[in-house]
Amino acid sequence: MAIIFNEQTKTITLHTKNTSYQMKIGNLSYLLHLYYGPSIGDEDMNYQVMQYDRGFSGNPYESRNARTFSLDAQPQEFSTQQQGDFRTASIEVVNTDGSYSYHGKALDYKISQGKYQLDTLPCVFANDKDTADSLEITLFDPVSSVKVVLLYGVFEEADIITRAVKVVNQGQGSIHLRKIMSVCLDFLNGADMDLVSLPGRYGQERQVERQPMTHHIHAIGSVRGSSSHQQNPFLILCDREASEDYGRCYGFSLMYSGNFLAEAELDQYDQLRLVMGINPKQFYYELKPGETFEGPEAVMAFSEHGFTGLSHLYHDFYRTNLCRSKFVKDVQRPVLINSWEAAFMDFDDVKLVEIAKAAKNMGVELLVMDDGWFGKRDDDNSGLGDWFVNENKIKCGLHKLVEQINQLGMKFGIWFEPEMVSEDSDLYRAHPDWAMEIPGRHAVRSRNQIALDMSRLEVQDYLIERINAILDDANIYYVKWDINRSLADIWSNVLPAEKQGEVYHRYILGLYRVMDEIILTHPDILFEGCSGGGGRYDPAMLHYYPQYWVSDNNNPIDRLKLHYGTSFVYPTCTMGAHISDSGKFVPLETKAVVAMCGTFGYELDATHLSKKEQELCKKQSDLFRKYYHITFEGDFYRLTNPFKPGNMTAWQHVTKDKRESLLSVVVTNLTFNGPQEYIRAKGLDPKAMYSVNGGKELHSGSALMNAGLPINREVPEYSAFQFHLARKGK
Ligand code: DGJ
Repeated sequence: MAIIFNEQTKTITLHTKNTSYQMKIGNLSYLLHLYYGPSIGDEDMNYQVMQYDRGFSGNPYESRNARTFSLDAQPQEFSTQQQGDFRTASIEVVNTDGSYSYHGKALDYKISQGKYQLDTLPCVFANDKDTADSLEITLFDPVSSVKVVLLYGVFEEADIITRAVKVVNQGQGSIHLRKIMSVCLDFLNGADMDLVSLPGRYGQERQVERQPMTHHIHAIGSVRGSSSHQQNPFLILCDREASEDYGRCYGFSLMYSGNFLAEAELDQYDQLRLVMGINPKQFYYELKPGETFEGPEAVMAFSEHGFTGLSHLYHDFYRTNLCRSKFVKDVQRPVLINSWEAAFMDFDDVKLVEIAKAAKNMGVELLVMDDGWFGKRDDDNSGLGDWFVNENKIKCGLHKLVEQINQLGMKFGIWFEPEMVSEDSDLYRAHPDWAMEIPGRHAVRSRNQIALDMSRLEVQDYLIERINAILDDANIYYVKWDINRSLADIWSNVLPAEKQGEVYHRYILGLYRVMDEIILTHPDILFEGCSGGGGRYDPAMLHYYPQYWVSDNNNPIDRLKLHYGTSFVYPTCTMGAHISDSGKFVPLETKAVVAMCGTFGYELDATHLSKKEQELCKKQSDLFRKYYHITFEGDFYRLTNPFKPGNMTAWQHVTKDKRESLLSVVVTNLTFNGPQEYIRAKGLDPKAMYSVNGGKELHSGSALMNAGLPINREVPEYSAFQFHLARKGK
């Protein structure tokens, strides 16, 4: 059992292969956090926690005149409010009597085998081969009768610990939650730590930013109704010296697709507190007597081996314990071509078949019909919500169109944007009250569409019925699920005034229900998530979709940064990456090398390509399939940092057994008569001998990793190289 409760010391320790996490039911039954980091065996880490008289920091009443125990200076497992701790709280609850106090003391604990699940929110799961254990610790405040249950999932082999939280109102009247954080982690000294996050914007998602901890609250979050392009629900706290390969790194990844918040507070004593959960902005959630609220799961990992070590933990775990789709490991993802940048909304069935025929020559296996096939949809001013095939465009009907594509030996995919409605649509005309519009106000415009009130059952049921009907009407192999605006005008016509503060979260719960009913009931369909590119690329979405569109920005040089940032937490096999016309001066070969970092496909009008270009694409598609076991199942290494000045961006995939590797390089800049550049490989067996691209010459793993490969500089700018390294012998 990876969870040990020590009766004598009242410590609870969670053990994974390389880490330990310890807490203690301490003084007056407060739950203290003692440690998270490299394994400490049986050690009782309580010796670390000092107690002093800290002026102006309150002491619990029960301490009477003893002034040395203050929650303001003690590391806590779940920080609360109105208890003398003035740092950021994990809970803000308005009690039935209107007070804001929460004095939760440890009441009970339960250890069980297997991984807990939440009733309302997606979670990671344990596979048969995994050793996973769960812990529940109950905190209880006898005055308000509010129970908080802290949930922990321990994946021993994977070196992963998850946390989630439940609040149960056991009192006689309603209470209101204003803040509830899923994870709270106190570090006794955080002055020398940095915070790494993934901020961005439309077309430039998940760029990497690093900042030193200073004495204030560093907040990262989203209030856009989705996890957003602008921030990602992931962050790293690391040593100031931590780098790609060295140093201690803590990762926090939140399984939630709505508003989130992470606060990292360096306090007056250089202690560091990290809390992460649902964003409290416009969050006011009523719990009637007997009701329970669940907060989303946070997935934590720790590595002493820098960002690479941490990324590998997340990549391995998210590849196996997050999404149940058969496309995760049993079925190879197809090379696809998407109609969006080929035709936008200007297509019909004939055009699609023409694109498919040309794409067939390029080794493409799947045609995706993007936006524009339904309702009245010739531009983005109308049609959303009317999920009926537009037979003026698809004249032969969907069923026949899919048959034609299948007859070519190709599969067929389709696009939806379920959560939105256009004012100019039959759905809006029939049910204007289903849209999120505040009575008496005009809704904020964004791509001329309004969000549906996903919290409403009839909206959810309509979408489930309509989308399932389309999916069941034809041989659909793939679905792209899009959302193209941030939410504003948060309002539900069926909730009373005092419950409008629940709408942001209820929207997400409704969305997850719709996804459960459509995605999980169609296990043979490959789903890809999208949000105007990668605006909702988060682990909760990856619970449903094995892949997510990284960005609408297909420029291959920009993509180097996009892939780099995304790979900090998300495995490259989740990264939707296509070759398009974007990047005029970049050769097709280079675009292919970049797209092969992800799921690989095309986003262009294949009928416009010359025969020679189509043949080249065919070779690229074949290469993608040839290297699939390396890029989809291997370890990923970032060899260079595209955010730093340099002439080349390089990355590498290495199979787990180190027998094969694909090392990719893009030349982004060439200075006249510049120095020779060498790219050093990683992750190889130093003693083994490797051939490079099937050549006769062999190099040792050690040479390739320590001296590197010379990169030919007599090439045009934006050239790319792919080195296939194959180990010789056993
Ligand atoms: C935004 C997506 O990111 C694009 O790929 C495309 O599907 C459009 N939406 C369609 O409206």
